[in-house]
Amino acid sequence: MVRVTIISFAVVAFVVCVLKKINSESVFIGERIENDRLIHKSVHEKAPFIYRSYDVAFPKYYEESDNVISAIYVVDNNYNDGASAAVDFGGVGHTFVNIHLRSALWCGFNFTIEIFGVKLK
Ligand SMILES: *[C@@H]1O[C@H](CO)[C@@H](O)[C@H](O)[C@H]1NC(C)=O
Repeated sequence: MVRVTIISFAVVAFVVCVLKKINSESVFIGERIENDRLIHKSVHEKAPFIYRSYDVAFPKYYEESDNVISAIYVVDNNYNDGASAAVDFGGVGHTFVNIHLRSALWCGFNFTIEIFGVKLK
């Protein structure tokens, strides 16, 4: 019973989201500079459900931590889902960043995050 409710809820969310067709925007912060390189790349997908959000923290314990960030590209792979992204703290000029991803109501999201940086000397 509970499972049926959750599935029908997800179907309703999907339909509502498709009908809404809100444009979403990619976020480009900073600029690529000489000697920077890709230090992080990840894809974040969530299926539509009432509201979805996710925080991406960089660097993770297994990633290089001593890079100054030059540019952050958060590319929205689904033009119509109305999702948005913002830097919560850190970012360009820092060695760390927290990116908050959120869906529009009833929608999901699909973002590709690319972070570029220069190694601290
Ligand atoms: C999310 O976007 C990536 C990159 O465009 C794509 O390969 C993938 O199939 C997308 N996922 C969904 C569920 O649409």
